[in-house]
Amino acid sequence: MEQATPLLTEASITANGIGKRFGTRRLWTGLSFVAHPGEMVALSGPSGSGKTTLLNCIGLLDTLTEGTLHLGRQDISRLNQRQKRRIFRHQTGFLFQNYGLVDSWTVDQNLDIALAYSQLRGREKTNKKLAALDRVGLGSRRNERVFTLSGGEQQRTALARLLLKQPKLILADEPTGSLDRDNADTVIGILSECAEAGALVLISTHDPRVVEQCDRTIFLG
Ligand SMILES: Nc1ncnc2c1ncn2[C@@H]1O[C@H](COP(=O)(O)OP(=O)(O)OP(=O)(O)O)[C@@H](O)[C@H]1O
Ligand SMILES: [Mg+2]
Repeated sequence: MEQATPLLTEASITANGIGKRFGTRRLWTGLSFVAHPGEMVALSGPSGSGKTTLLNCIGLLDTLTEGTLHLGRQDISRLNQRQKRRIFRHQTGFLFQNYGLVDSWTVDQNLDIALAYSQLRGREKTNKKLAALDRVGLGSRRNERVFTLSGGEQQRTALARLLLKQPKLILADEPTGSLDRDNADTVIGILSECAEAGALVLISTHDPRVVEQCDRTIFLG
């Protein structure tokens, strides 16, 4: 049964000599690092060095070809599909480069995805959604369809959805790539608050201003 499979007790990451190959092409090899809850860590490296791929491996969407990676005490290579799905649904928050929103849905409908497995009742859900939207400055946009929003507004909708989910592990793929300075500061400020509240935040980025605001940097390539 799904309920019987363990969720992570802690979202620390311990990577031991990990590597990833696509066919004969090696992206990274022998990579080792430890990251703890409460940290905000930058993942940096040239385009094509495998930042997105590493985030996908940590987020259980792709698999390593070398080494071991533990999430808390759990060796991810030993998780079955059901356990992976459960951790992905309940404890991992992705902020995708392309926002990962459903364009034809309203902001509100997109936020519902984060609450799909929550026990909250209707009114409580609505209040939580309103609070998250206020926090990212979109309080008045709840019923608008995503395709009518600007890139920055879409990114902030994705951030509101992340806030609602309150994941232990946050994997953000170039979250400020297409944002102006103010919006980028909002996004990084909120991610930093998530780390202060105890999440482990991993951010792939080319932006030196983001790197500066992280506790440390892991380099690829
Ligand atoms: N499923 C796949 N099959 C084969 N090659 C892949 C696959 N996914 C990614 N790659 C290759 O792996 C390399 C790394 O891709 P990745 O997207 O992880 O890089 P990145 O560091 O995130 O780059 P960017 O900074 O441009 O986003 C690329 O050359 C890409 O073509
Ligand atoms: Mg990438």
